[in-house]
Amino acid sequence: MIKVKRLSHATFETPDVQRQVDYFTQVCGLQETGRENGTVFLATKVGDLAIRLDRGNESKCARIAFQVDPATDFADVRKGLEAEGIKVKESSDVAPGIPRQVSFEDPKGTVLEVFAGQTPIGKNAEVKGIGPLKLGHLAFCVDDPKKYEAFYAKVLGFRTSDWIEDWFVFMRCGPDHHTINFVRGKRTIMHHIAFELKDAAQIFSACDFLGGRNIKLTWGPGRHGPGHNIYTYHRNPDDQIIELFTELDKMLDEELGYFEPRPWHRDRPQKPKVWHGPSDVWGPPPTPEHLRQRD
Ligand SMILES: [Fe+2]
Repeated sequence: MIKVKRLSHATFETPDVQRQVDYFTQVCGLQETGRENGTVFLATKVGDLAIRLDRGNESKCARIAFQVDPATDFADVRKGLEAEGIKVKESSDVAPGIPRQVSFEDPKGTVLEVFAGQTPIGKNAEVKGIGPLKLGHLAFCVDDPKKYEAFYAKVLGFRTSDWIEDWFVFMRCGPDHHTINFVRGKRTIMHHIAFELKDAAQIFSACDFLGGRNIKLTWGPGRHGPGHNIYTYHRNPDDQIIELFTELDKMLDEELGYFEPRPWHRDRPQKPKVWHGPSDVWGPPPTPEHLRQRD
């Protein structure tokens, strides 16, 4: 088994690349750092690659890139995956700053890319719009979340942080409570893309900014139970749900096995668990515009 440590970036296919570039640079607040053959690379304001956009027939998350320990011997990454029966493809220079990677598919056909070494691609830059700290997590609607939990644990070394009953699993690959989620849905489709903001003040500035552009929130603001993050959600022009969050739970020490104590926790210590019933600490219920993603 290999152990990924960090979600790096995601590749989205879209019928209208420029419309997505406009959203991510003018509203979300990323910087464009490169274009080649219709592909566009977008980074956070500190210059970390966050999103790659490719032209496609439909809007979808096609690829997700994870980083293992940069000191890992690249041959060991390949061997670790092959030991789990995974057929991998090796490629070079697929994204700026990433010289080598291996890729393979998860059970729904999303290509997972794993790399070790990376150099920063951009410089600190002023950005327009919101300006997140990083790409925080991705969530997917699937038929059977348990199947995906098993795959991501066995193949990539993810740990399970929380379940909501038996229909929503939150998984971590580093200190953050979740970097990937699977929720049972009627279709297999991405559920949302989440960006981390600096603090609650930036969340409220983002709400004002979105409101000024007449972009409606589909849920929030509120504070979730699982992960305890402050959240808001809206939809972008590709009808993708975008979450903006802050104050996500962190497990700084895996051996201790609990999340850093916070005043809003009801369990002391706050350990991974199965949640039942309404779980938000505060906030409004989700709107039908939000809930339709699982239909
Ligand atoms: Fe989320």
